[in-house]
Amino acid sequence: MSDHASNRFAAALNPPFNITRASHAVLTSRDLDATRVFYCDVLGFEVSAQETDALYLRGLEERGHHSLVFRKTSAPPICERVGLRVFTDDDLRKAADYFASLGLPAAWVQVPHQGLTLHVDDNVGTPLELCAVMDDLPSNLQRFERYRGGAPMRLDHFQVITYDVQKAADFYLALGFRLTEYTATDGKDDLWGAWLQRKGNPQDVVFANGKGPRLHHCGFAVSEVHDIIHAADVAGALGFASKLERGPGRHGIGNALFVYFRDPDGHRIELFTGHYHAIDIDHTPLRWDLSDTRRSQLWGMPAQARWFNEASEFPGKALRDPTLTAEAVTLEKFLASQF
Ligand SMILES: [Fe+2]
Repeated sequence: MSDHASNRFAAALNPPFNITRASHAVLTSRDLDATRVFYCDVLGFEVSAQETDALYLRGLEERGHHSLVFRKTSAPPICERVGLRVFTDDDLRKAADYFASLGLPAAWVQVPHQGLTLHVDDNVGTPLELCAVMDDLPSNLQRFERYRGGAPMRLDHFQVITYDVQKAADFYLALGFRLTEYTATDGKDDLWGAWLQRKGNPQDVVFANGKGPRLHHCGFAVSEVHDIIHAADVAGALGFASKLERGPGRHGIGNALFVYFRDPDGHRIELFTGHYHAIDIDHTPLRWDLSDTRRSQLWGMPAQARWFNEASEFPGKALRDPTLTAEAVTLEKFLASQF
């Protein structure tokens, strides 16, 4: 990679406050019971709480009260916010000052089962929810009798579609996120996709080029490859085969063995395994040319067009067309080229 690229993707090693990881997502659901069946019976999530108007879920090893929140709605489903953990409440106060200095208004809010919580939008319109602590629940890591479906362990990352990946990357690099891998236009360093992390593996927040801002998916780590296959088997057995949208396959990026599902409201969720450590500060970002389809599938079929085009909108956010354009290699085009 050129020196120019190194500087362009340099992270703030002493950021203004300490974000530790991707934490949770707040989505809406038209039918909480249907959502519970899909996430718990098919995919294997644990219920932390079900209230009249909200369902709180977590993975098997998670002790934080929720990594997925579903709020009841009668409107078209959306993603209300994506959540990030900071280290301490003092980091939240520093965050509020920092965002004010950028001209990004932040608001203190009361959120059930969470401590002090701050709401703010990032510089490309992604609504964020920052907190340091949640209610602490028992881990189910060694409750092997509870392992069902894909046995999801923990939230790993969000992927957000944005109209300007470089602009988004600049925001997160300044917050101490480090770039592990990226997709760029062939022969240039125009960012098409950016894998950004705080917790020491390939990603906490991923930005991909497209009409945005929209949430593309939440990615949950599983322990074993067979968890991916078992989730697909259980989906088939329980009549949810149509909810399996892509895979199984292996991404070149992140080495993720993956499968993607769409939930009853259309929100996309990824189960994956195979990711690696990315802790040392001399970890040079890995570049992928946009034309190299191995970045998307080292093996396996390309994604359906809807995987590229459909995503969960954020409330009240006007969608902007992307700064870059390119034809996606879709399953439909791939099949048309073969037969
Ligand atoms: Fe992902």
